[in-house]
Amino acid sequence: MPVAPSPELPAAPPSGILAAFEAAKGFMPLREGLALYGAAVEAGRLGLPLLEVGTYCGRSTILLAHAARAAGVTALTVDHHRGSEEQQPGWDYHDPQTVDPETGLMDTLPTFRRTLYQAGLEDHVVALVGRSPQVAGVWNTPLGLVFIDGGHTDEHANADYEGWATHVAEGGLLVIHDVFPEPEDEFTGQAPYRVYLRALESGAFTEVSVTDSLRVLRRTRAGSGPRG
Ligand SMILES: C[S@@+](CC[C@H](N)C(=O)[O-])C[C@H]1O[C@@H](n2cnc3c(N)ncnc32)[C@H](O)[C@@H]1O
Repeated sequence: MPVAPSPELPAAPPSGILAAFEAAKGFMPLREGLALYGAAVEAGRLGLPLLEVGTYCGRSTILLAHAARAAGVTALTVDHHRGSEEQQPGWDYHDPQTVDPETGLMDTLPTFRRTLYQAGLEDHVVALVGRSPQVAGVWNTPLGLVFIDGGHTDEHANADYEGWATHVAEGGLLVIHDVFPEPEDEFTGQAPYRVYLRALESGAFTEVSVTDSLRVLRRTRAGSGPRG
């Protein structure tokens, strides 16, 4: 008798989407990407938009966009497209191809647009180009999922948490990337780990899953702010 797939294991997206994800420039490893995708599929059932902070070149956006398309909701992705601290020239995560030769500044927006176009997902994504706290400051719509993968300083990670976690609907998911509890494992700082602890300590979120450095939390208590 065939064994029903475990609800713990998220189904992978179709091969074309997976191929687009693997071909895209970015920082999301496959295992964590699949966990993010599973969370997005589940959150999509709430019928609310799915939002990402930290688009970069659209690698993780592909997964959110496909889940959003399947659920009939919209994926939103926030980025100023000027790169995080560790992506600037001279730093480990810098990619010279992301620099606009005219301005001399990083600009990941054109690559992001090509990524989405090539994946056939343009119609399912709204790109919000700006600083995360500024966009959050004018946001007032409940979200099924918030994925935090923006700046990794305490200032930026806390601002992302404070600006966006408040909008996760009851039953919705808060996903945090690059959570490293051990200082020796971290590569861009432990601010995401501290934000993850903050979310748990708020009493408004409980942990759903851990996949490498990706944490999925569920809002179990309604509230007006991240603290519950
Ligand atoms: C680690 S990358 C995101 C990686 C992406 N999710 C992927 O799958 O490849 C972080 C992104 O956050 C953006 N970012 C950092 N701080 C930001 C802020 N305060 N507001 C908006 N975007 C920000 C950077 O421009 C960068 O593109």
